[in-house]
Order: sequence, then C-alpha cells, then structure tokens
Amino acid sequence: MKQQLQNIELMAKAELEKISDLAELENLRIKILGKKGELTAILKQMSALTAEERPVIGQLANKVRQDIEADIADKAAQLKAALAQKKLQAEKIDVTLPGKKPSVGKLHPINAVLNEVKEIFLGMGFDIAEGPEVEYDYYNFEALNLPPDHPARDTQDTFYVTDNVLLRTQTSGVQVHVMENKKPPIRIIAPGRVYRSDAVDATHSPIFHQIEALVVDKGITMADLVGTLDMLMKRLYGDDCKIRLRPHHFPFTEPSAEVDVLCFNCGGKGCSMCKGEGYVELLGAGMVHPKVLKNCGIDPEVYSGFAFGLGLERIVMRKYGINDMRLLYENDMRFLEQF
Ligand code: PHE
Repeated sequence: MKQQLQNIELMAKAELEKISDLAELENLRIKILGKKGELTAILKQMSALTAEERPVIGQLANKVRQDIEADIADKAAQLKAALAQKKLQAEKIDVTLPGKKPSVGKLHPINAVLNEVKEIFLGMGFDIAEGPEVEYDYYNFEALNLPPDHPARDTQDTFYVTDNVLLRTQTSGVQVHVMENKKPPIRIIAPGRVYRSDAVDATHSPIFHQIEALVVDKGITMADLVGTLDMLMKRLYGDDCKIRLRPHHFPFTEPSAEVDVLCFNCGGKGCSMCKGEGYVELLGAGMVHPKVLKNCGIDPEVYSGFAFGLGLERIVMRKYGINDMRLLYENDMRFLEQF
C-alpha cells in the first residue's frame, strides 16, 4: 500500500507536468482526489491493515493527499497567471496609432450664401416671408398681371397639379400673399425654391432658388430700388462692385429692368465669363405695377413700391467662380468640401 501511495504521488507529478489548462487540471484532481478517485480507492482498503500499520499508512496517505493538493494549487496559480498575461497581451492598445477624425458637417454653399443675403436684408430692416411651392395659378400668374393667354407664360412652363394648381415658377407670387395680408409699409424678402420646365445645362435647372424682395410704402421710387440693390451687391461682392440697369419687361412691374453686375472675372473689360459684355445678368426688378397693387387691395394712388427677384444659384456661382450650376446639385463631397 505504501508503494501504491508513492506511485500515485509520482504519477500525479508526471501528469501535472503535461497539463496546460484549468479544465484538464480539474479532471486530474477528480481522477486522483475525487470521491471515486484513485487515492480514495486505496484508502478504502485501510480496513484490511493491521492495527500497527494503520496509523503509519494513514499518515502517509494524508501527506500524499496534501502534497498533491498543494501541487494542484500551484499549477492552478501558474495557469491562471499565464491566462491573465495572455489576455493582457491580446488587449494591448497602441496609443501611437492615429485617431479617428470626426467629419464635421457644414452648410451647402447655396444655404451659406442665402444666410448671408438674409443677414444683409435683415440689417436693412426687411422681414422674411414665405409662400407655398405648390401654388394657385392666380398667385403665380394672374394676380401678377399675367392672364391665362399671356405670351410671357410660355417662358415659364411648369408642372401642373390641376388646371389651376402648379409648382410655382417664381417667388413673385409671395408678393401677392404678403400684400393681401399686410398693409404698407411692407419690406420683405421671400427666398424659396421654384420650378420650371427647363432642360438641365450649365446654367439651367428645373428646380432652382430665387429671392424675392418687395418694398411698398408712400413715396417709394426707382432710386430706392437702385440704392437697395447697390447696397446688396457691395455687401456681397465688395465695394468695387458696380451694377447696371437695362430696360426690360415684366408684366408685374412698370418700369422694369434687368440688373447686371460688373463681371468679377474681368472687372468690366469683357471675357468669356461675361461673353465680352463686361457685365453679367443677375436679376429682374422694377416698380410694382399699379394693377398688381390694386389686385391686392392697395391703392396705387397712395402707395408705390419696388420688387426684384434674384436667382440664388447665380449669386453663389458669381461669388465662388463656379462655372457649372450642376455642381451645386450633385452632392459630390470633393466639390462641396471646398467651401
Ligand atoms: N419673377 C421674375 C423672374 O422670375 C423676376 C422679377 C421679380 C422681376 C420681381 C421683377 C420683379 O424672372
């Protein structure tokens, strides 16, 4: 029996050497020290021993058990330490790696310039008005002195929802909404999206943006119109900026003008950008037609006003020297990130 006990101890030591994980170790412990284990099996034979042998073997058996338990505990500690080490290695972070750069959003150039224009007008005491993009024929055309068979309608074809409801072709209809709801003095701008049946090219898009301006009060003259436009353009493009008015026709203003701005590219000498003109067309303007005032319940004998409508895209393109309008709608980050 003594021999058997010593064999178990030797066997245990040999097995322990080979073990490489905690589960195997637990199996070994059960195999030797468990209720049905090898050591237990030997101890069961103790009853066959003589009274003298029993304490000797008993003592030895205890010692063997304690030794094996201690060895197993050592091994367990070793394995746990190795495991922790391995985990630490795997979780190691490299603090010298470059960080993740957060991408910061910013305003689209159209919105950035729109905000700038709004600020300029707010500074001149204007309010900001809004009107519907899906509009009645009456507001988009008829009240603006464009009856159903007026030839000028042809240049502003659009999508008709019904015979008298359409996608607005201009922000000028907001003039009518404002004048119907508010009596002079009126000083508003109305920025917004407009729609026309135009083919897409470098300077045309079926959806674009206009900013309408309307001032109605006693004694408003063409000089107020020119002064306001001059101020706007100087604020937008710098003090060297010059504007030029050319006679034109709009059914809802009289007199009417097209307003050009000195070509930022050549400074007036004439280049490909301004097609040799020295000026580029920016907007339509004029004195509000007496009929339009009357349509809105404002007495043209007492009040007068001016209005203009500028294409926001044109302003953005002039400001940044963009030569193709499509770039503003394509959402190509390589383009947008430049602003
Ligand atoms: N609504 C006109 C256009 O789209 C511009 C305009 C506005 C002209 C106001 C005169 C007065 O062409």
